[in-house]
Amino acid sequence: MKQENIVLVGFMGTGKTSVANQLARQCAMPLLDMDTMIEQRAGKPITRIFAEEGEPAFRKIEHALADELATPSGSIISTGGGIVLNPENIRLLSEGGLVVCLQASIDEILRRVQHDTTRPLLQGMDRRAKVAALLTARTPLYQAIPYQIHTDGRTIADIADEIIAAYQHHQALPTNSN
Ligand code: S3P
Repeated sequence: MKQENIVLVGFMGTGKTSVANQLARQCAMPLLDMDTMIEQRAGKPITRIFAEEGEPAFRKIEHALADELATPSGSIISTGGGIVLNPENIRLLSEGGLVVCLQASIDEILRRVQHDTTRPLLQGMDRRAKVAALLTARTPLYQAIPYQIHTDGRTIADIADEIIAAYQHHQALPTNSN
């Protein structure tokens, strides 16, 4: 039987990539970054997938990959911030492991993404208004995930340690067969 995954979910700039890298190093588990996998398979960056094929096409590819990664493989899986838009993605990924939702305040998110040019949903003017609108729409979807971690003021190492402890506990529990 394969080991369960650790799946990191959260809005852009909540620290998924940094925490995933730390977990992969600390646990010696392979890291699967969904956005990177999508870019590699499409042969182009996400900004171009959005520009040339549209967001619905990206969401379709993202959903197919969530389905593919739903099986336990002992991996750290870092998702894109919009993975929650299709609740089926979370249901699938929860089948294969512990899903962790990282949260951060809007100020912290804006600080982390301020120089970013690679996120199609943050292109153009008034980034704060864009982030605020997306957060408002998505907050109930993130909050539906049982395990939440607020990352403001915490170190990556500290967050990783908490997740490892939760993961060990999660693995010790009997599988929910419903
Ligand atoms: C998205 C977040 C991005 C990426 C795409 C869409 C979103 O991932 O999947 O640009 O809808 O929030 P990150 O959360 O890693 O930035």
